[in-house]
Order: sequence, then structure tokens, then C-alpha cells
Amino acid sequence: STPKPPRHLLSIADLTPTELKSLISNAFTHKVFIKAGKTPPSLKDALLSKTIGLTFSKRSTRTRISTEGAVVAMGGHPMFLGKEDIQLGVNESLRDTSIVMSSMMSAIVARVGPHSDVAGLAEYSSVPVINALSDLYHPLQTLADFLTLVEAFPNRVSGGGKKLGLEGLKIAWVGDSNNVLFDLAIGAAKLGVDVAVAAPKGYGIPESMLNTIKTAASSAPHAGTLTETNDPHEAIKDADILVTDTWISMGQEEESKKRLKAFAGYQITNEMAKKGGAKEGWKFMHCLPRHQDEVNDEVFYGPRSLVFPEAENRLWAAISALEGFVVNKGKIQ
Ligand code: CP
Ligand code: NVA
Repeated sequence: STPKPPRHLLSIADLTPTELKSLISNAFTHKVFIKAGKTPPSLKDALLSKTIGLTFSKRSTRTRISTEGAVVAMGGHPMFLGKEDIQLGVNESLRDTSIVMSSMMSAIVARVGPHSDVAGLAEYSSVPVINALSDLYHPLQTLADFLTLVEAFPNRVSGGGKKLGLEGLKIAWVGDSNNVLFDLAIGAAKLGVDVAVAAPKGYGIPESMLNTIKTAASSAPHAGTLTETNDPHEAIKDADILVTDTWISMGQEEESKKRLKAFAGYQITNEMAKKGGAKEGWKFMHCLPRHQDEVNDEVFYGPRSLVFPEAENRLWAAISALEGFVVNKGKIQ
């Protein structure tokens, strides 16, 4: 009989609400215990080959460091293959690359342009494929972001265990509707976190993605709501957390001028938060890399900013995801 196809992590949409909570909660537990001296979960028993391939067609600081570091911490061998190193995309098809990589590796972590590239790798791979950013999704970022929120709002944690206590939190996303937002919104829907998006006209969430987010909400026992507006102040009203990302994602450099113009007035500042009526204890998140356009220094480096713990949490999220998808072969608990 043919072997069972592996489970991949291409988007947060691939996870049930319970599995999502488990990955976040496991990331939290690993962070606390590994920092206290406990050994990380081991890839060794799960691996046919110790090698995990990291194939990146775009630049990366956090995603590369966290996934490569997680593989090392877990006893595997990370093999980084930048786009100049590998035949993929120049001399060789996705299909052939995927079959060959997965025959000698235990997982593939892939950063791509079009989402169809990572989906194509997954289609032909005999080992788990983990999306390290595509134009549609950034699941590892979302896991780290919710871990950051669990830590930032600890008094909301009720009952311990897998209860994260994030229900009823409100995220205001001010800026571009992009890959980071899409997985965040899918995760929020599943976790009962409300999201209000403020984007200029023409930069809202595409219809097909709205449907994906709606489907995510329908899978949740207590779904978070999603609202959209063109007015940052409206989105910010009663928000616990303000989030943004660059206005110019990798691959959109040619649109820079047009985008800077379209997003004028969307820079997150303390004045904007005050005028919009954010909650008194509001916090700020950004996946990084950051430019001053979308948030000023006062907020970015200020006491409300969670951006550096959020970046560090990428490591704990990567460990949790590798444990779930590689060590435990997609049986996430
Ligand atoms: N947040 C994030 O994915 O950053 P990098 O592009 O540096 O990996
Ligand atoms: N939206 C950004 C995120 C980078 C981590 C991009 O796609 O470039």
C-alpha cells in the first residue's frame, strides 16, 4: 500500500481550533521549561534523515534564525538552501525538487513568492512541508503572535491547561491587508479574538480570503469577528492590541511610490491610538522587518511595544510546529 501522505502546515487554516491552541500552548510550555534547563523535544526519533531542508527564495532574518535554530536545538541538521544555491526555479521544477528533497530529508521549510509554490512542494513531498511565508500566509508568525498575546495578557488565562484565555481580545490591524494579516485573522477567528482591519480603499482583504476567514470562524466554538473599515480610528476603538506590518511586502517594491501615497495617514502613533480610543493598556505588535512609515519610533520602541519578545517567540513557535508536524507526524495535542 502507498504510505499515508504527510500533514503539512501551509496556513493556520490547516489547524482545528484545538490544534491551534495546542501549538500555542506547547510553544509557551517549551519556552518556560527549556529556559529553565529542560531538553527540547527531540527530532532524532522522528527522523529517517536528520536533515531538514530550509529552502528560501526571499530574504529572512527571523524565520531563518528561528527555524534553523529550532532544528539544531532539537537535534536535527538544518540545510539552508537559498535561491542561488538550488536548481529550483531555474533548472528544475517544483515537482522534481520536492520529490528529491523529500526523499533525503525529514521535512521541508519553504519561503516562497506565490503560495502555489509552497502548495506545489507539499503536493509532491513525502515529508511535511512547513510554510515559512508565502504571498498568502505566514503560519509560523501567527503562532508566535498568539504566544506573545498569551504572555502579554496573562490575567486573561483562565483554567490553565489548553485554555489560552484570549477570547474577547480585540486586535486592530492598521495598514496593508497582507499575508501576515490573513493567517492572523484566520487564527483569531478560531480563537475567539476579534479583528478590526483598517486599510485604504483598494487594499482591503480580497473576497476569496474573506471566505477562507469565514470558514475558519465556522470551525470555532466561539468565533472571533472580523470587521473592515478605511478609518484607522474606527478600527482602533476599544482595541487591546494594535498591529501592523510593512506597506510594501517583498515583491511589491515596484509599487512603493503608489503604496506610500495610498497609505498616507495610516502610520500608528500614540496620537492615533488616543484619538481612536484604544483600551488604556493597549499594546503594539509588528512581525518585523519594520519601516518608520507604518509606525513611529515612539510607539515602536516604547513601553507598549511587544515587537522584540514577539520576534524571539518565533523560535518557540518553530520548536512547537516542528514537534507537532515532524516529531509527532501531524498528531497535534
Ligand atoms: N517576521 C519575519 O518573518 O521576518 P523575516 O522576514 O526576517 O523572516
Ligand atoms: N508582509 C511581509 C512580511 C515579511 C515577514 C512580506 O511579505 O514581505
